[in-house]
Amino acid sequence: MTALESEEPLLRRAVCPGSFDPVTNGHLDIIARASKLYDVVHVAVMINKSKQGLFSVEERLDLLRETTAEYGNVEVESFHGLLVDFCKQRDIPAIVKGLRAVSDFDYELQMAQMNNGLSGVETLFVPTNPTYSFLSSSLVKEVAAWGGDVTHLVPPLVLRRLTQRLAER
Ligand code: PNS
Repeated sequence: MTALESEEPLLRRAVCPGSFDPVTNGHLDIIARASKLYDVVHVAVMINKSKQGLFSVEERLDLLRETTAEYGNVEVESFHGLLVDFCKQRDIPAIVKGLRAVSDFDYELQMAQMNNGLSGVETLFVPTNPTYSFLSSSLVKEVAAWGGDVTHLVPPLVLRRLTQRLAER
């Protein structure tokens, strides 16, 4: 039976991958916009064992689940392996990525071409909201660690956990 003959509705799926250490308002803007374009958006916390995060993978998943709950069609999971394998296992044909500036482009293009060459998965780039074009998890952590105000850059829950984590150090 082909997908067209099936009684199951064909769901349009996409993945928003990342490290999300922690999720920022910039990530959430891209996830929210993807959730309007696709039936199901998978948010994948890609595990990189050589990179020690400020938050554990479980903590990142928890923050993502809490902050994306309002969208209704977002599924959050972690994955250890290649992004193309995550996509293959779930029948996901598209990766959605935010592009903040030209500086993102070279590496993002390389990854998009590699992923397409490996499995045929497509990458769609969404221009970041200019409000967040300078924003990254690394900068948020650095500014917060030195006592800078990041209230406008992360959701309130992330701000609370970030403040708590930095105080523990
Ligand atoms: O938030 P980040 O750290 O910029 O996200 C980068 C990420 C996790 C999307 C990228 O490193 C990735 O896809 N990693 C999974 C491993 C993989 O598939 N590597 C080959 C990429 S072509």
